[in-house]
Amino acid sequence: MTDQTTLSFASKSTPADGVAVVFAEEGPKLSGSAEDLDKKSKGLLTRAIGITGFKGKKEQTVDLIAPQGLKFARVVVLGLDKPGSYEPEDWVSLGGTVRGLLTGKEAPAAHIYLETASGEVAPADVASFALGALLRGYKFKKYKGKARKANGAGDGGDKSLKKIVIHCGDPKAAGQAFGWGRALADGVMLARDLVNEPANILGPAEFAQRAKELTKLGVQVELLAPKTLQKLGMNSLLAVGQGSEKPSYVAVMQWKGAGAKGGEPIAIVGKGVTFDAGGISLKPAAGMEDMKGDMAGAACVVGLMHELAARKAKVNVVGIIGLVENMPSGSAMRPGDVVTAMSGQTIEVLNTDAEGRMVLADCLWYAQERFKPKAVINLATLTGAVMVALGKEHAGIFSNNDDLANKLIAAGDSTGEKLWRLPLGPKYDKMIDSKVADMKNTGGKWGGSISAAQFLQRFIKEGTPWAHLDIAGTAMSSVDSEINRSWGSGFGVRLLDRLIADQYERR
Ligand code: BES
Ligand code: MN
Ligand code: ZN
Repeated sequence: MTDQTTLSFASKSTPADGVAVVFAEEGPKLSGSAEDLDKKSKGLLTRAIGITGFKGKKEQTVDLIAPQGLKFARVVVLGLDKPGSYEPEDWVSLGGTVRGLLTGKEAPAAHIYLETASGEVAPADVASFALGALLRGYKFKKYKGKARKANGAGDGGDKSLKKIVIHCGDPKAAGQAFGWGRALADGVMLARDLVNEPANILGPAEFAQRAKELTKLGVQVELLAPKTLQKLGMNSLLAVGQGSEKPSYVAVMQWKGAGAKGGEPIAIVGKGVTFDAGGISLKPAAGMEDMKGDMAGAACVVGLMHELAARKAKVNVVGIIGLVENMPSGSAMRPGDVVTAMSGQTIEVLNTDAEGRMVLADCLWYAQERFKPKAVINLATLTGAVMVALGKEHAGIFSNNDDLANKLIAAGDSTGEKLWRLPLGPKYDKMIDSKVADMKNTGGKWGGSISAAQFLQRFIKEGTPWAHLDIAGTAMSSVDSEINRSWGSGFGVRLLDRLIADQYERR
């Protein structure tokens, strides 16, 4: 859910109520606003700094409740260390840190005097800060405490934060720069909402409807229902969904922000398994609930399309997501089954839990056949093995194109949605040769993320630049960061926004 807190920009001199946040550089050297408060309070801040040994180091704070001589309920001084050498991402992270300090407990309003000891913060950095603050404020609380509240119980004492005002040198310019940040925040939070939503509420049909809602922003959305998928020959994708009561869908979302001059689109393809029970090769019970998040790739695609449309990006992008539920039942696909994918290649199903690649196989092929894209990028919570290799800090990237891979890695470094490249190659490809069909859907014990990627590559045409992002470790059950406390992180939206802005957008 989007943060209920409103966020606005204002010039420096404004009312003294609520919570104030001011900054100091290493030393500590106080910002102008911090010095003002110090004077008004007859040296309260300098006294507190002396007592606590605050040096203005990063994330160091001095926290004053009911400060004598000031109307603020609370004043926080936060260390910035050396803001002169901040990258844009450091400002995003700082916004998250500050938002984390604000609980709304002391007062419903917070005034952030975003200024360093050396002076004003550039409008673009103020906007980055605001983005971080919004992202940190996200909480998925749709299913919490409604009935209890209606009964007059619940967390009645919740004086949560109502508004954040960021005081800065040029509030108008900051507000303008923040147009993009607002779009990004909305896109990321949409992706998080989709990932956090349980699978009884968000099945393939409901997910497809959420994609359809992008129509409001000017995205052309088509929903391909099972009959159409059959006609297209998407038997690989359909085989995964055939054990479920819930019909499978593919959603095709076109954003044509660059018009005819923009040429062929970039295709972004997402795995949208709304629940992955494993099928007949059933997963163990422990932790199976996490598999509601096995649609994080698709969620990222929808979040990205939202973001691109919201900021009217000058680029042509098509998003394609395969929406299925992988369940065991009398109609489920069996180990040993052979299916013919849309490309005409046959797949021997050795493990019905290796379903994501089967969904993507048809989506990737469809994307290339219909759109002749400039490049194809897919995102998928594809393998547990990628977490064995990389933990939860990096997503895995596999690519047939060094240039595309490097650009994605660079976009990852600058947004903090980091990627680490893993290899592809003919010897790995052999791992998925099958005795009875063109390929099998698992590659044996070792290098599970690589054999999965090799499988996908068999559905990429010669000459199509392609990258596969294995986001199993980064998009769900994600580790806390300064800008994320949600189970579903929305990973990939900011990364792909950056790639598109830097590499593909018309100016
Ligand atoms: N959705 C899972 C991968 C996954 C696991 C994502 C844990 C997030 C957290 C995928 O469909 C899967 O089950 N992969 C198997 C492949 C194996 C059967 C070859 C895996 O990783 O174990
Ligand atoms: Mn699976
Ligand atoms: Zn899966």
